[in-house]
Order: sequence, then structure tokens, then C-alpha cells
Amino acid sequence: MCGIVAYVGHREAYPVLLKGLKRLEYRGYDSAGVAVLNDGLKVVKKQGKVSVLEDHAASVYLSSHIGIGHTRWATHGEPSDANSHPHTSGSGKIAIVHNGIIENYDSLKYELLKKGHVFNSETDSEVLIHFIEDIQENEKCDLEQALRLALQRVVGAYVVVLVSEDDPDTLFAARKGSPLVIGVGKGEHFLASDATPIIEYTNEVVYVNDYEVAIIRNNELSLKNLENEYKAPYVQTLDMDLAAIEKEGYDHFMLKEIHEQPKTIHDCLRGRLDAEKGFLRLGGIHKYAEQLQNANRIIIISCGTSWHAGLVAEYIIEELCRIPVEVEYSSEFRYRNPIINEGDVLIAISQSGETADTLVAIEKAKSMGAIVFGVCNVVGSSIARTSHEGVYTHAGTEIGVASTKAFTAQLSVLAMIAMKVAHDKGTISDERYHLLLKELDAISSKVAKAILQEEKIKLIAKEIKDMTNCLYLGRGYNFPIALEGALKLKEISYIHAEGYPAAEMKHGPIALIDDGLPVIIVATKDSYYEKIVSNIQEVKARKGKVIAIVSEGDDVIPSMVDHVIEVPNVNEVLMPLVSVIPLQLLSYYIGVLRGCDVDQPRNLAKSVTVE
Ligand code: AGP
Repeated sequence: MCGIVAYVGHREAYPVLLKGLKRLEYRGYDSAGVAVLNDGLKVVKKQGKVSVLEDHAASVYLSSHIGIGHTRWATHGEPSDANSHPHTSGSGKIAIVHNGIIENYDSLKYELLKKGHVFNSETDSEVLIHFIEDIQENEKCDLEQALRLALQRVVGAYVVVLVSEDDPDTLFAARKGSPLVIGVGKGEHFLASDATPIIEYTNEVVYVNDYEVAIIRNNELSLKNLENEYKAPYVQTLDMDLAAIEKEGYDHFMLKEIHEQPKTIHDCLRGRLDAEKGFLRLGGIHKYAEQLQNANRIIIISCGTSWHAGLVAEYIIEELCRIPVEVEYSSEFRYRNPIINEGDVLIAISQSGETADTLVAIEKAKSMGAIVFGVCNVVGSSIARTSHEGVYTHAGTEIGVASTKAFTAQLSVLAMIAMKVAHDKGTISDERYHLLLKELDAISSKVAKAILQEEKIKLIAKEIKDMTNCLYLGRGYNFPIALEGALKLKEISYIHAEGYPAAEMKHGPIALIDDGLPVIIVATKDSYYEKIVSNIQEVKARKGKVIAIVSEGDDVIPSMVDHVIEVPNVNEVLMPLVSVIPLQLLSYYIGVLRGCDVDQPRNLAKSVTVE
């Protein structure tokens, strides 16, 4: 959600904060602000992107070696200068940046208003800093103690970082539910919501856990729990390079990440799949491999694009492993009072590993005795650390808000899990197992071939970019891909789009079809082919404009439709890895042609860390 960055050390803090905020802008871009200590607290904040803040701060003297910064995704209070972070305490001597939601802020605010506190914003975060200072004054304690006492009384999720005029060389931070990483440098420390602002300075990091408070100075980092007990910081080395978070000549991160997929899928398979030797090794599925193999039921929980990956996994696992699978939206699963039986296994899929809905659903399932496997992209993320076991997708840092390379890496991991379990269970023949190993091993080159349709896709995008609605249809393994295509278009171009199982169209959506409605049909060669051809005829009978994703060499569908985009032939179990590519590119070019900010679409954020 919001992006938080902070610094204490020997460098000028403001340039470090500004650069960090630009790196974190994909987490929220409603407003931005910084606070530094130079001859007292200096706060500069502005509605809009970090570049607006930069222009606004250009004339302000912000020299200092300590500071905090924030880029916002609005929850409480609309985007405005007043609701921008940092917020200051009643005395104006302490500043706070906050990522998360304080659910009981209303009752706290009511108490504070009765005491005469005056608020400048509508935010829960401003209430929190007033509350902390109020405790400090009443309990006659230092800021660290006041922070711990206050956090024992707030309900909700938070990462907070504070600076205070009375402690000019100290940062105070705390975490519950939202992510916080501390970069350990020589005589300096960097704090951020994720590692992207840190790796250019150090790859030594500490991931702060829930209910931990950090007190940070140039050469000191101490961690405590809310009960004032020290915790030993666990320093880890990041395996990440700067190039991974640069555009490398592409116009947008989304386009770069679409083009990276042949390599990222290869990276995801490397060391795990050897088609020659005929083996699959998933180190992260070891201690609980038996539970997975003997599962009575597999429940997949996730959100957004990761939920679509879960749907594809349902088809693959049920077909190969013969284990019943249910795919749940994390938020609905968490609050629906779910049934978890002995022998049920949960798979939680999340690119960021920080999605609050999925995190709380995992906690719920674990409290009911379920084994939880995580499939995550961000190393060291909360979902990775809270799952019993799991597999990283190794797609590298995904900066574009619309998930692309992480999705195909998720599909690769889920396919490997299904193939391994099926082989170990003996629910697929050796022959089919080895065929699928070879197909998956070859998928990177087929994805690369699908990307070569880019110029053709650009022309189709030009033709349909002014549409107001769009329908995506698919069957079987391609049904979730139709959903994913529709989501990408919605996210990137703000055009209303719906994905549907093609056969379901006759039961309602067919009423939408006329010569003004583009219908994108994923119609590759598979066991549903004959059926999807009839669905195309039904759409054409209502003068619908059809763009069909077809398998190379298809000589039937091209004559029936307005446009075709060919993709290489692939075993239907793995087809989603290839059939999604044209849909990613189509949404990208329609978004660009409509002048949308494709890397930072309005109202969205890369990881949704609040419920
Ligand atoms: C996808 O393009 C979106 N960014 C969004 O739907 C995303 O998939 C969803 O928020 C889940 O995120 P996660 O995979 O990081 O948990």
C-alpha cells in the first residue's frame, strides 16, 4: 500500500529519501512527503506524485543526516496536502509516517478531542502520533516507551517510523501486519517497506517481525517487543541487483517485465527441473511433502492475478494429481468461517508476499490446523515467513503494478508442484510425466515466440483502443486466462472488461454482443477446441468483433474472425503460460495508446497491505 523510507547516517538524508520514494512509488502515488531534523523538525509534503514533492521542496533547506519519507495510497481521507504524510504531534516536535490502518482510531480520536487536541487531517495516522505524545506527557516516559505503550492499545495494521526533536539522532520504528526492512550499512541505516530503495547502498538487511519496535541510530540497531524485551536482529544477505529495478531502456516496467518472461520462467525452473535426467526437485516442499501428496483436499487462497494462477492450478492439480481443489478469494475465505478438515492442505499464492487479505487468511487456516504452503515472489516476505513451507517463483523484482512475469512464474511453480505430486502419487504415467517435463523445459522459447507478435498486437490495439467495454472468453485451462486478460485491461486502460467461460456466454453476456463490442477469445488447440469454435460462431452471429488467440497453423478460426494472434502449440496443461502473453501485450498497448500511466494505474498499488 503506502511506501515508507527512512535514513540515519553520515549522508545527506533528503536525497536518499527522495530516491527511495521514487523506487517505492508503485506502492501508492496519491501524495508524498518527508520530514528531516535540521534545527528542529522540517516537514514538506504535497498531494500527487513524488516529482510534485521534489519541485515543491526544491526551495526548502532540508540538509540533515536523519529523516523519514512516505508515498501514500489513500485509505482514511482523500488525497490532499493535509492528508499527506508525515503527520506531526500536537507539540509539532514529533513526526510520523505510517503504512496500514488503525481500526480503532475513531475512539482514540474522540478521547483526544475531549482533551483539546486539534487535528489537521482526516487520517488515522495523525491520531496515532497525537496518541503517542499524549501517553509520553501523561506517563512522563521517553518516546520509545510511549510508542510501545500506544501500540499495545491500537487495533489494526501498521508500520510506523518516527523522528523527534528531542531525540535528534534516533529513528523509532514498529511493525504489525505491514512490511518493514532495515538495511544495515557502515555507520548508517536505511528503512523501507521493501528492499528496492536499499539495495543500491547495502545488501545486508533485517526483516522486522510483527510486534517488534526498532530503535535505530548511525551505528546502532536494537529490536524489542512491545513488552520491552530485546530481540536479536537477524541480518540476511539480499540476492538482488540494481539492474533488476531499472527500466533498462524500456518505456515502462510493465513492457520490460513482459519481455523478461522467457528469462524469468527459465530462472524459475533452473535447478528444479531437468528434463534430460527426468527429475523435478522443489527444495521448499520437503518436510510436508507427504501431507501434500496425501491431501484430501487442497485449498488455494489468493487475490487478483494470483487468484487467476490459483484457478489454473485447480485444473492442473485435479487433472494430474486427482486431488480435489478449491480456489478461494483470501478475503472471503477469511471471514466466511471456512471448514478445514484433517488432511486439508492450503496453498497461498502471492507475488508480493504482503497481501493483507491472504496473510490473515493464512493465520486463520493455521489456527484451524491446516498445513500452509506459500508460493511467493518477494524473498523474505511475510507470507513466505509465515507459511510452513513454500516455493519462491524467482521472477525478480516486479515493479509494474500490473502483474505479468510473476504470473507466468507462479504458473510454472504450480505446474511443477502438480507434476511432482502426481509423479510421486503415480496418478500420471511415467511417459506423460516426462512429456510434461520436456514441454515445461521448452516453454521459455515458446513464450519468446509469442512475444514476437508484438507489432501485430500494437495494430489491433490501435483499432480497438477507444472501446468502452470488452468481453474475454476462454474454456478449460484458458478460462482463467480470459479472466486475467480482462483484469489486465481493466487495470491498465480503465476500460470495463469481463472474462467468462465461453459456454457461459449463452446464459447472459451474449446480450451484450453487437458490432460495437470487441470479444477476445482464447481459442488455442486443446480438448475444448471444437466447442470454442461454436462459441465463436455464436458471437459472429450477433456481429461481435472477434479477436482470437489461436495456435500456430490454425486454418479454421482465422477465416471466421476479425483478427487472429498466433501462439506456439503447447500441451494444454501448460498452454496458459503462452496464451496469456498476447493479452498482456494487448492491454499494455491499449493503455499506452490511451495515455494511461501503465506502471502506476490510478487507484491501484503493487501490494495491498491493508484489509
Ligand atoms: C495484478 O496485476 C494486481 N496487481 C493485483 O490484482 C494483484 O495480483 C493482487 O493484489 C495480489 O497481489 P499479490 O500476488 O502480491 O498477493
